[in-house]
Amino acid sequence: MTEAPAAQPKKLYIKTYGCQMNVYDSDRMADALAPHGYEPTADIGVADLVVLNTCHIREKASEKVFSELGRLKRLREERRAAGAELMIGVAGCVAQAEGEEIVRRAPVVDLVFGPQSYHRLPELIARAGTGPVVDTEFPEEDKFEHLPAPAREVTVRRGLTAFLTVQEGCDKFCSFCVVPYTRGAETSRPVEQVLAEARGLVEAGVMELTLLGQNVNAYHGLDDRGRAVGLGELCFRLAALPGLRRLRYTTSHPLDMSDDLIAAHRDLDMLMPYLHLPVQSGSDRILKAMHRRHTRAHYMNTIQRILDARPDMALSGDFIVGFPGETDADFADTLAIARDVGYASAFTFKYSPRPGTPGADLPDQVPESVKIERLARLNAQIQDQTRAFAASCVGRVLEVLIEKPGRNPGQVGGRSPYLQAVHVDGPERLIGSMQKVRIVRAGNNSLAGKIVTVAEPKSASLVESQVRPA
Ligand code: 5AD
Ligand code: SF4
Repeated sequence: MTEAPAAQPKKLYIKTYGCQMNVYDSDRMADALAPHGYEPTADIGVADLVVLNTCHIREKASEKVFSELGRLKRLREERRAAGAELMIGVAGCVAQAEGEEIVRRAPVVDLVFGPQSYHRLPELIARAGTGPVVDTEFPEEDKFEHLPAPAREVTVRRGLTAFLTVQEGCDKFCSFCVVPYTRGAETSRPVEQVLAEARGLVEAGVMELTLLGQNVNAYHGLDDRGRAVGLGELCFRLAALPGLRRLRYTTSHPLDMSDDLIAAHRDLDMLMPYLHLPVQSGSDRILKAMHRRHTRAHYMNTIQRILDARPDMALSGDFIVGFPGETDADFADTLAIARDVGYASAFTFKYSPRPGTPGADLPDQVPESVKIERLARLNAQIQDQTRAFAASCVGRVLEVLIEKPGRNPGQVGGRSPYLQAVHVDGPERLIGSMQKVRIVRAGNNSLAGKIVTVAEPKSASLVESQVRPA
């Protein structure tokens, strides 16, 4: 008797736009499809299924999707000419916001599904055989309960650092932001569910976890006794996992920096002294119009509470320039707060009116030329601050998680506690270890350092398997 040949694995290509949560979601989509014979490929030309995991936060991010769909239409024609099929899916926040409209505008699309329905992907793919399928519901069931965990070797291949979504959605409704509409109401994953996922990651060699949420510091997951647990306590629970060396979390809202969370920064060395705490504007008038629900003084006071607990904390933020009604004086307040906080880095954006958000209907929209000019001025200042921060690291000894081979032979690279890329001379067997590194030079985008005394990694075999294929 001859055995039936094993089914050829189908190839999955996911293109991810936008934030870290989309990066996490893309991996989880791959996990959902793995038991159904889909294997990731880095070559779009051989894919059987292409998924665009999209971002709706600004107009430019949204529009990229439609130009990519034009390219995919041509790819599908080429593949059909060669006798092969190609299925095309649009996932993420554009899918959630535009739904059916995507299929109308780009009939090449077979599947449209939102951030809350990707656990249903295998079923959606099966249905798409008979015509386009759109699923942008906010389902009753918890998608995380339905997503399979990745195989251990998949986690090992993904590297030493991992994202873990603990919270999703937002109830803040800042007047510029689409997130409350695309990601829905604020929800927190139960503590045990988070711990179980973290355990799987750490057992596969993950040393650094970044907890994700649109409003991650509003986390209030239930523990097994039905008690709501805040992010500070969750960090303590995670820190007890043997093998885990670093914790980070992003993105936070200033109103949710609770005393417990700040205490965790004081008491938990593993919680990295680098915090992304967006302020968006330095002007109280604009903060009010943005519906941020805090003032400049409240934000500065929050920063002081954090620095009192953790004096070596470096800060990062987000800024929007050119929100409707922003005057030169308001913008001067933004430059001032950026300087007064002394951000080590920041992300800066021109205001982009998003359909369906209150900001889009406000009078006094700021002309594009003014937005461009303000963005350039803010960027120049932030760049100076980032350079000054990097220069202040020269001479200091920073702990670096060695993650990968370096740029040049004989070098390895990793990240400082402040997320800066650091290159050091050292052999590849150091990948997967923490090293104390004296910083000797600050470049434009990275630091160079020397290992003070080499700390030998614990398990060479695990470390070898951690090197991601190029
Ligand atoms: N226009 C410009 N920037 C925006 N952001 C969110 N919505 C908009 C918008 N409509 C920025 C904010 C937020 C970051 C993720 O994106 O700064 O913190
Ligand atoms: Fe958007 Fe963040 Fe405001 Fe929520 S808190 S509406 S995600 S900017």
